[in-house]
Amino acid sequence: MPTFMTVQECFDVISADNPLELDGIELIHLQGWVRTNRSNNHIGFIELNDGTSFRNVQCVYEFSLTDYATVQSYNTGTAISVVGLLKITPENKQPFEIVCQSIQLEGACDSTYPLQKKRHSFEYLREIAHLRVRSNTFSAVFRVRSLLSMAIHEFFQNQGFIYVHTPIITGNDAEGAGEVFRVESDSFAKKNDHFFGKDASLTVSGQLHAEAFALAFRDVYTFGPTFRAENSNTTRHASEFWMIEPEIAFADLDDNMNLIEDMVTYCVNYILVNAQHEMKFFNDMIDKTVLDRLHRLLESEFVRMTYTEAIEHLLKADVKFDYPVSWGMDLQAEHERYICEVVVQGPVFLTNYPKEIKAFYMRLNDDQKTVAACDLLVPGVGELVGGSQREERLDYLESAMERFHIEKSGLEWYLDLRRYGGVKHAGFGLGFERFLMYITGMQNIRDVVPFARTPKNLDY
Ligand code: 4AD
Ligand code: MG
Repeated sequence: MPTFMTVQECFDVISADNPLELDGIELIHLQGWVRTNRSNNHIGFIELNDGTSFRNVQCVYEFSLTDYATVQSYNTGTAISVVGLLKITPENKQPFEIVCQSIQLEGACDSTYPLQKKRHSFEYLREIAHLRVRSNTFSAVFRVRSLLSMAIHEFFQNQGFIYVHTPIITGNDAEGAGEVFRVESDSFAKKNDHFFGKDASLTVSGQLHAEAFALAFRDVYTFGPTFRAENSNTTRHASEFWMIEPEIAFADLDDNMNLIEDMVTYCVNYILVNAQHEMKFFNDMIDKTVLDRLHRLLESEFVRMTYTEAIEHLLKADVKFDYPVSWGMDLQAEHERYICEVVVQGPVFLTNYPKEIKAFYMRLNDDQKTVAACDLLVPGVGELVGGSQREERLDYLESAMERFHIEKSGLEWYLDLRRYGGVKHAGFGLGFERFLMYITGMQNIRDVVPFARTPKNLDY
């Protein structure tokens, strides 16, 4: 009886200390999809991928195989079962191959299959999002996406953070930016009524709810989907994206930045260790600087700079920005990129932004003009993290809400957090897809999301 094995298990066995101890599992059974199939009159080679490994395994079949001609005709995309001998091939590029004894068809795939061996553009692949996951690039992207999720949970769980599932449907616009998607029931809407008895929306941030948990559990995080109706068609904005939002009690802005830096470093290191084949692929095929960039990130501390210092750099810059620079303005992508790519040439925290351009919940600094905010900017991506120390003083928070015309009704519970045992606390939001872009070198957020949602785009 052949032993069923996955491709990953084959690689594990081969790289074990004593790979020759293959007794009893030499005749193996694999299942997967044909990536390529080439042959002549005597011998054929199938590159098989079964999804368990980024790497393919080479299956060799000889003319003596019954159905040789049929197997020769299997197109890219065909699903097959293979029974064969696992043969170690130290002289080859691949450490082993499968010498086939039988190949069985599991799922046919004809020549109209849109994913052929030639290189396809990412634009084209976006149109076949249901099939692009079978290509090398997207196999690497979504493996790293899975590993990065794991790294994030591991980082927080190792330090005793409590994972909280903040609600997806909410009654408040946490950021106050008016970029919410409405949630309503069809039948209630027809009766001019609200299902929840009031306006409801999809969450733009779990922060406010996470704050409630931080004031009970001290250190918490959320990691879930977030929705924003920003009508901006950029390579860095999606209407549905995932965000990691930790919230830490008895902590200030410096503690917050230390946590961000530790988390980013931990995750980058995790991926470099656990996704070596994928990262080599990104470095070879997507962005030749990516490994160097990540190694440098691990070696150096993140620069910390105030918003005011950043404005001084921008005013001194000998480049012409599309959007003119002055103190008080919201930084545009071109400014953020200049600061991290030209001035710092690496990750940089910008702190203490003018209170007018940041959210109501950020803590007012003693200068009365700026708030204790910290954005992390990284080369190639721009803003990766937005965070702050929170305004824990009830009277300050109430006057900030007035300034921003934010209704207190519906947020009384949030104010209670200041009334009852409120302490200084801080937190941040890290855009998961932007982090993936930074780590992989992929240039468009649509290419790190399984099925992207962006304005005028909902094909799947
Ligand atoms: O800076 P933002 O808006 O911060 C907040 O939502 C805070 N409530 C977070 C907190 O303190 N708990 O968003 C945080 C991050 C951004 O830095 C960016 O990486 C990402 O979320 N982000 C987006 N990613 C993809 N598409 C979009 N439309 C995004 N908007 C924000
Ligand atoms: Mg922000």
